[in-house]
Amino acid sequence: MILHITLPEDWAGARRTGRYTASTRGATFFEVGFLHASEDARQAAAVAAAFYADRPDAFLVALDEEALAGSGFAVRREPGDPADPASECFPHVHPGTQARDHIPVPLMTPVAMPGAEARVLRQDTAEAAALQDAGWTVRSRSWGARLHLADDADLAPYRDLVAAAEAQGVEVRVLETADSLALRALDAEAAPRFPRTDGSFHTPLSDDLEARLDGEDGVAVGAFAGAELIGVTLLFRTHGADGDVRWDVDRTAVRQGHEGRGLGKAVKAASVLATHARGGRIWGTGGAEVNAASLRMNEALGFALEPLWLALVPPTPAPTNAG
Ligand SMILES: CC(C)(COP(=O)(O)OP(=O)(O)OC[C@H]1O[C@@H](n2cnc3c(N)ncnc32)[C@H](O)[C@@H]1OP(=O)(O)O)[C@@H](O)C(=O)NCCC(=O)NCCS
Repeated sequence: MILHITLPEDWAGARRTGRYTASTRGATFFEVGFLHASEDARQAAAVAAAFYADRPDAFLVALDEEALAGSGFAVRREPGDPADPASECFPHVHPGTQARDHIPVPLMTPVAMPGAEARVLRQDTAEAAALQDAGWTVRSRSWGARLHLADDADLAPYRDLVAAAEAQGVEVRVLETADSLALRALDAEAAPRFPRTDGSFHTPLSDDLEARLDGEDGVAVGAFAGAELIGVTLLFRTHGADGDVRWDVDRTAVRQGHEGRGLGKAVKAASVLATHARGGRIWGTGGAEVNAASLRMNEALGFALEPLWLALVPPTPAPTNAG
C-alpha cells in the first residue's frame, strides 16, 4: 500500500465523478503527469508538515500497487526533488494505458482511523453523503425491513410456514409466563451467534421482559421439540410519533443444531398471525448485512428492505505534527 494525502474538496469532487484528478495540493494529475504519493506514514508525515500544516482536514488515502498495475498504472520510485537526483525517493503513480488525467476512485480507499467509533446513518441521508465526502468509510452495513398487511390480507402463506414446522413434529405457539426461563436460556445460548456489527448486535434481555410479555405490547412465539424450546421470536408494539402502530421484532433465535429447518420462518410467521389478530398491520425488523440467514428468513415472510444503514468511520488525518 502506498499513501496519498488528499483534501475533502478533492475527494468530494472525485466521489461525484468517479475520477480523482488531483496530483497534490493545488496541482492536477494532468498538469504534473503523475499522482504524488508516500511510501509510508513517515514520508506522509513529512509531506503533510511541509504542505498541509494549515489543513487539519487533510487525510490519508491508500492505493494498492497490484490493483494499480492491474489497471495499467505504473508506480515508480523517483526523487522527491526532480532537480536533485540524490534526494529521497517517493512513489509516483504514472498514467495508465487508459487514463492520463485521473485515477479511478475505486482504486483509492481512505485509511480509516484505527479504533474510531462509528456513526450509523441511513445511506440516503445528506449527512451520510457529507461524511463520505470528507473521507469517512463504511465499516459495516445493516438493514431494516417493513411488512405491511391489510385487514383482509391473505394469511395462508404464514399458516403454511407454521404447518411446515408442525409437519416435522414441532409445536409452534405463543409463549406463556411459565416459558420465560426457557426463553432466557435459549437467548443466552444463541447470543454468541448473533453477528456483532456497529449497527446490529445482541443485547441482553431486559429484567422487565416477563412484565412486558404479560402486557398488551409484547408477544413471544416459540417452537418446541417435545418440552424443549428450540426457536423463538420476540416482538414489541411501538407507537410512532406519526400515530403509526408497529410491531418491532426484538430478536429471533433458533437453537444450534436446529437451524435451516424452517423454524425461524415458522416462529416469525406465527408471530405475524398472532399480532395480526391483535390488529397489527405493520411490522419492523432488521439485522446485519452479513446475516444471510436472517435476511433470507425475512424476505420469505414478505418483509421489504428499506435503504441500508451505514456504519461510517472517520479517515486518518494527515499527520501534520510529525514532520
Ligand atoms: C437467523 C436464524 C433465526 C434463522 O433461523 P433458521 O431456522 O435457521 O432459518 P430458516 O430455516 O427458517 O431459514 C430461513 C431462510 O434462510 C436460509 N438460510 C438458513 N441458514 C442460512 C445460512 N447460514 N446462510 C444463508 N441462508 C440461510 C434458508 O434456506 C431459508 O431460505 P429460504 O426461505 O429461501 O428457504 C438462525 O440462524 C439463528 O438463530 N441465528 C443466530 C441468531 C441470529 O442471528 N438472529 C437474527 C438476528 S437479526
